[in-house]
Amino acid sequence: MFKICLFAAGCAIGGALVPVPKHMSTSEGAFRCRTADLATKVEFLKDAALPHEGYRLKVTPEKIQVWSSGDAGAFYAVRTLEQLADKTYVPDSKYAEVKRRESDYVIPSATIEDAPTFRWRGLMIDEARHFLGKEAVMKQIDLMADHKLNVLHWHLVDDQGWRLDLPKHPELAKYGAVRPRSVAFGAGAEWYGQKQKLKFRLNTDRYGPYCYSAEDIREIRAYAKARHVTLVPEIEIPGHERALLAARPDLSCRGEGKLERIPRVYWGIEHDVLCAGNDETIRYLESIFDEVCELFPDSPFLHIGGDECPKGCWKTCPKCQARMREIGAKDERELQVWFTRHFANYLEKKGRRVVGWDEVLYGDAPQSVIGMSWRMSANNGAGGDFVSAPEAAAKGHDMILTPSHYCYFSRRQGLAEDPYPYYDPEPFAEQTPRLELTLEKAYSYNPYAGFPERDRKRILGLQASIWTESIFTRFDFEWKAWPRTCALAELAWTGPGARTFDDFRKRMQIHRHRLIALRVNCSPIEQ
Ligand code: ACM
Ligand code: ZN
Repeated sequence: MFKICLFAAGCAIGGALVPVPKHMSTSEGAFRCRTADLATKVEFLKDAALPHEGYRLKVTPEKIQVWSSGDAGAFYAVRTLEQLADKTYVPDSKYAEVKRRESDYVIPSATIEDAPTFRWRGLMIDEARHFLGKEAVMKQIDLMADHKLNVLHWHLVDDQGWRLDLPKHPELAKYGAVRPRSVAFGAGAEWYGQKQKLKFRLNTDRYGPYCYSAEDIREIRAYAKARHVTLVPEIEIPGHERALLAARPDLSCRGEGKLERIPRVYWGIEHDVLCAGNDETIRYLESIFDEVCELFPDSPFLHIGGDECPKGCWKTCPKCQARMREIGAKDERELQVWFTRHFANYLEKKGRRVVGWDEVLYGDAPQSVIGMSWRMSANNGAGGDFVSAPEAAAKGHDMILTPSHYCYFSRRQGLAEDPYPYYDPEPFAEQTPRLELTLEKAYSYNPYAGFPERDRKRILGLQASIWTESIFTRFDFEWKAWPRTCALAELAWTGPGARTFDDFRKRMQIHRHRLIALRVNCSPIEQ
């Protein structure tokens, strides 16, 4: 009876693994035990020949054995085992009945050999636009671990908010963590007119103060570490800086007294950025990075942003122009290269590897900087400084790929019915049909496209990125993140092209019930 259900083609619960393992074979029989006893039934063994994060799992009617070379592999074997053992969550099926009647696990006999394709399997959460808070973030960390994702890229600062209460820099949270007014719930961005200006509906409600204390960070760090998730905080420089400038308006090119001491209240990009010609800017940022490194002692990577830095202020600022003459920069883009180089060197001396959005790869950017590629072409963003991921890899940069058309899950997902608003700030929002990032599109992403075989080793990994202009709570965050992040997780772990979308979709129809049972507001898997 169980066997038939478990092995029925395509709809087996034990077969609905996400991400699907690289190699799996099943055989007759099943291991049975009381649910409460499972943890004590697994025999963990060392096999130094297995790759980091890889594992071998063998289930027979007599026992369950896991081999790995280290803790991460054993951890991921247990995540697989949990899904294999799972017999819940298919409503209106015999399973629902069985679950009510007894609580034994019946785990199908199987042998699995598994290891990740990519080292960086990321999820980016933007908490600057809207703050999800500790519990919601910890829940995402759990979900990441369940899907074998291992990097939380934490976008903690931007024009619209500064979410870190740094004990040595209390001014940042004081001015940067609260917006006196904000964009109203449900108001996305609406385009109008030939000039394609954005229109927002503001409310007069105060938003915040919302930020993480040092104690919160310690707690979240420990939580993530136990789940083999690395936290990568992002401190944006030199643009997307309005929340910092609320605390230190003297560090803008316009100087003291010219800026209102509040973060940006609209979405979009602020034109006031950090003055790169002011030595005090450099000193201040160094002291912030010192403190961020103290708060995140076990993060090998630090993200310095670098995207979408308007250069208008620099063009007219005497200090920035003097700096350009001093360093021999021929234009303002080269000033940003100098700025990036300074902080990359600074952070590398502190033992960190620096990650930046693809804008930091322009010109003779330090080769040690890891590029995070988000733009598909020069039209998809600021233009002239565009360096594609394959070009950057050819120059020797390690790359993380999160192209907006495939990996920005804050984008419209093409559901027949969708109660949530989306933020579509780019010109293609007006195209008909709209460019939608459906589950199928997310799964169709081929990260190797454009990379010659020789440079594929430069792809450190893939990342789902979720911006929160139009995400107000954990409910709409989860609706947009899941199930599309499952698709990204499978591409990052199992590898692109391992299975057809039809195979993935069938597994997802079952897997979604697991997510619903975990109270994840997961959007539907449509036919
Ligand atoms: C970005 O979407 N500006 C990285
Ligand atoms: Zn300046």
